[in-house]
Amino acid sequence: MIVNGKDYRTVWMEGGTVFMIDQNELPFEFVVVETNNYVETCHAIREMTIRGAGAIGAAAAFAMAQAILQAPKKGREEFITSARYEIEATRPTARNLFYATERVFNTGKDSAEKAIIEAQNIADEDASDSRNIGKFGNRLIKKNDRIATHCNAGWLAFVDYGTALSPVYQAHADDKDIFVYVDETRPRGQGARLTAWELYQAGVPHLVIPDNATASLMAQGKINLMIVGADRIAANGDVANKIGTLEKAIAAEYYSVPFYIAAPTSTIDRKCGSGEGIIIEERDENEVLYQKGIDREGKMNEVLICSPGSHALNPAFDITPAELITGIITERGVIKADEQSIQSLFESIS
Ligand code: MRU
Repeated sequence: MIVNGKDYRTVWMEGGTVFMIDQNELPFEFVVVETNNYVETCHAIREMTIRGAGAIGAAAAFAMAQAILQAPKKGREEFITSARYEIEATRPTARNLFYATERVFNTGKDSAEKAIIEAQNIADEDASDSRNIGKFGNRLIKKNDRIATHCNAGWLAFVDYGTALSPVYQAHADDKDIFVYVDETRPRGQGARLTAWELYQAGVPHLVIPDNATASLMAQGKINLMIVGADRIAANGDVANKIGTLEKAIAAEYYSVPFYIAAPTSTIDRKCGSGEGIIIEERDENEVLYQKGIDREGKMNEVLICSPGSHALNPAFDITPAELITGIITERGVIKADEQSIQSLFESIS
């Protein structure tokens, strides 16, 4: 993706160093940070310097490669195994993270060179899958469509292109005169901060709306398509995605708005039978209680926005049952959100 005239990926590795766009500073500042060992990369994933299913997956792949590079001769196997568990404990819901550590561990545990190549492969595949998702998703978009999305499943959430936003970018490039409603996505504001920033950079017409406005806009006929991403998809088509997805899907069903999930097959967890088996990450209450932004003087500030003394509950994801999902846009085509279609998708790969 082009930023300030330069082509960027969200995360990349050179030598033993991982570089990533700092998503905690966006949209106010564009900063690239470096992590020099797997512990620093883990910290960046946990603190959401890097976030979004595919970007987390690539960062985890690079972290696993860093750990293999760093491993001492003596106690090498224990070091690498314990690093893998440490990486996997950073964010429990995104399937891509586990997909990535497993691949780099299995291919590269005996050779740092192989580990780095495998990690780079994962990042490259993430980018090309996202591009193909855009191609298939674009076929669902008609001229003048009014599209809603939730959270950020754009290029920042992946290595490049994104998932839910990839079809949007392709439709925009095809002059389909689309318009996007971006909900804020409290508490961390990935919609208001990141999706809005991406769309603004790309010149896609959009409005940021309050989180609780989507159903009302659907009722007024102002939204005719909704596309969101996924953090983990169970074998039966149930989807874990950013908290708030479930209520949008219910509203979409009620108002007959097609509701699509856009995700690569690396997000599908066939070992997980249904949404009930997906671990939902619970994050610090301070993300709900405080908000960060720039004040009228242009200074970055964090302010308390809840009643002093009140505590908060902060589940980061929810589960949308398969029956509320119109289809899943994958890098291999659009499939139904059901067990048989998911199984056939994997049969077509092997
Ligand atoms: O907690 P985050 O920002 O890492 O959330 C993950 C997501 O980006 C969203 O749930 C997104 O909609 C899924 S696609 C990356």
